[in-house]
Amino acid sequence: MFYNFKKKGDSDMYKLYCRMYQRSLKFAMNFLAWRKPELIEGENSLSKLPILIKNKNIKNVLIVTDKGITKLGLMDEMLKGLNTMGINYVVYDDTVPNPTIDNIEEALSLYRENGCESLIAFGGGSPMDCAKGVGVRLARPEKSISQMKGQLKVRKKTPTLFAVPTTSGTGSEATLAAVISNSKTHEKYAVNDTVLIPHFAVLDPLLTIKLPPHITSTTGMDALTHAVEAYIGKSNTEETKNCAREAVSLIFENLYEAYSNGSNIAARRNMQKASYLAGVSFTRAFVGYVHAIAHTLGGFYNVPHGLANAIILPHVLEYYGSSAHKPLAELADLIGVSKESDSLEVKARKFINAIRQLNQAMDIPIKVSGIEEKDMPIMIERALKEANPLYPVPRILNKDDLFKLYQLIKE
Ligand SMILES: NC(=O)c1ccc[n+]([C@@H]2O[C@H](COP(=O)([O-])OP(=O)(O)OC[C@H]3O[C@@H](n4cnc5c(N)ncnc54)[C@H](O)[C@@H]3O)[C@@H](O)[C@H]2O)c1
Ligand SMILES: [Fe+2]
Repeated sequence: MFYNFKKKGDSDMYKLYCRMYQRSLKFAMNFLAWRKPELIEGENSLSKLPILIKNKNIKNVLIVTDKGITKLGLMDEMLKGLNTMGINYVVYDDTVPNPTIDNIEEALSLYRENGCESLIAFGGGSPMDCAKGVGVRLARPEKSISQMKGQLKVRKKTPTLFAVPTTSGTGSEATLAAVISNSKTHEKYAVNDTVLIPHFAVLDPLLTIKLPPHITSTTGMDALTHAVEAYIGKSNTEETKNCAREAVSLIFENLYEAYSNGSNIAARRNMQKASYLAGVSFTRAFVGYVHAIAHTLGGFYNVPHGLANAIILPHVLEYYGSSAHKPLAELADLIGVSKESDSLEVKARKFINAIRQLNQAMDIPIKVSGIEEKDMPIMIERALKEANPLYPVPRILNKDDLFKLYQLIKE
């Protein structure tokens, strides 16, 4: 009987099943081995990394990054430091945006061939998730990445991971997630396990100074999406709420400045912190349909993750309707766009408008181009499969809702 209810997909019983699943998971999460990365923060903090690695008696490391980072020479000082400390390293820089299983396998081979003992993930979410994927394969060599998809399947020690984020968006330096794409099936999914939370994170704002405006804006909107989706969800703790609120404030205060004046170090530092805090928040409190839809667009059309989120976020928040008014109204109060006398609905609308205005100010389009009608059934199915029953969203949506949302976001 239960199975039939599940199959129905949009019945009240199915929604009840989702809520029960989410509540049980929230309860079970209290018993997980949560940890936070040890933070090395501030201007030039990257220079402290080689000595830290040396003190850990690590002699061989694999650095996972991408071609954009190597071309910019962002790692040069760190590499010199590793040389000075007598630490051997090998660099894998073929990671693509929306990193693939092939990237992980190639990096894994380098790790093994060179007898590496730990990982430095240097870059945005793509290199960080690729490095986490290598950790997954080392912990569970008998399993493929696709077999590790989903919740808590790794459950074995991974090598020490030093995360050096160079975008301020994904928060991957704080999260249990590795988001991986299968280049053959166009599927994009997460491997989630607390063992994947990096052991150290270097938050050096100088690394983000050269981030071009369009990457600053879209990655920043990814961070905002994490904070907002976590905050309006039903699996918050006091800590995830506080982190999400702080992240939302920091983003509204600093993202436009970081976008329009990239060399403002204070704005860069605050965005880096916001991204990290949003990561701490959503890794425990989850995301929602914005991410589920964005992952399908990344998998099918390589739409950059932050860009997809930025466009989808206001549409989904509006679509949630009254179920999200209260937390969105709180966020409107937080960023100071509401009046005390406004109703919850009006405040929520003002918060959504503030997101639209921020997007517009940073030249982010309001629709996604290139979505093909023929791909929609499978994308809808995958987005629903990702979100239900896992994400503790304000309102559980069904196939028809998702169809409407894809129509709203597509050009
Ligand atoms: N693991 C998680 O918790 C999590 C959370 C959200 C998103 N993600 C994933 O992260 C990926 C996206 O990561 P991203 O948005 O950080 O982008 P990215 O890592 O794909 O990088 C985008 C581009 O920015 C360039 N770049 C990075 N840093 C730069 C710098 N300082 N200066 C100049 N150029 C720079 C890169 O070379 C690349 O070309 C997606 O696959 C997404 O699904 C993961
Ligand atoms: Fe994200």
